[in-house]
Amino acid sequence: MITANWKMHKTVEEAQQFVETLAERAIESQAQIYLAAPFTALRPLADLIRERELPFILGGQNMNDAREGAFTGEIAARMLKEAGAHFVLLGHSERRQLFHEDDQFINQKVRRALEEELQPVLCIGETLEERERGETESVLRRQLLAGLKDVTGSDVGRMMIAYEPIWAIGTGKVAHPEEANAAHLACRLVIEERWGKRAAEKVVIQYGGSVKPSSAASLLKQPQIDGLLVGGSSLTVETFIQILEATP
Ligand code: PGA
Repeated sequence: MITANWKMHKTVEEAQQFVETLAERAIESQAQIYLAAPFTALRPLADLIRERELPFILGGQNMNDAREGAFTGEIAARMLKEAGAHFVLLGHSERRQLFHEDDQFINQKVRRALEEELQPVLCIGETLEERERGETESVLRRQLLAGLKDVTGSDVGRMMIAYEPIWAIGTGKVAHPEEANAAHLACRLVIEERWGKRAAEKVVIQYGGSVKPSSAASLLKQPQIDGLLVGGSSLTVETFIQILEATP
């Protein structure tokens, strides 16, 4: 599976153009395509996907933890679902760093998304300082245990985790495939220990951080990497297609 995370890019027209081009091209790939689109583009893209019977899965990039209420400028899980989202990115490092979201708030969002039957994609990852201090595994462990607090094993098995080392996001510095694989394995072991073998086998773990057409195949060859979450390289349709075509 390959997820495009467009972040705060693409007007409705630009998003539609992207999806139309993607649909027209005969892409040689078995990858399931996920698109994390801006809120405003969800409904128009959902209409396009339905009308043209396209195999793309839409999602949002954030949501609030409350069901509804006086939270000016926020968006609820139910609204995303109604607009056509099937999944939602939660706890992306840009949300954690720029908007001060903490593990507890992210956990509340995860539980709300599950309650509303939106598939959460819990994003986790260490900073460069944490990696250099040898704390990668303990940071991932802390983010998983806190982000998935009070979530049942069967719900964990239905979720996705995105391992996105912060030092690799938007920096052009992709993690070494073996290094990413080791981090994914560490995550799976924490999940197995806390939520059981079945949850650990079923949970999908994607890698994100400066994925390029040249690095996609070697990352996906790693046994613990189930998919890729692609930011910058998903903005132009040609580059995104190159990533899909690099996917076995
Ligand atoms: P990037 O972003 O591919 O531009 O590094 C990935 C992400 O933030 O999801």
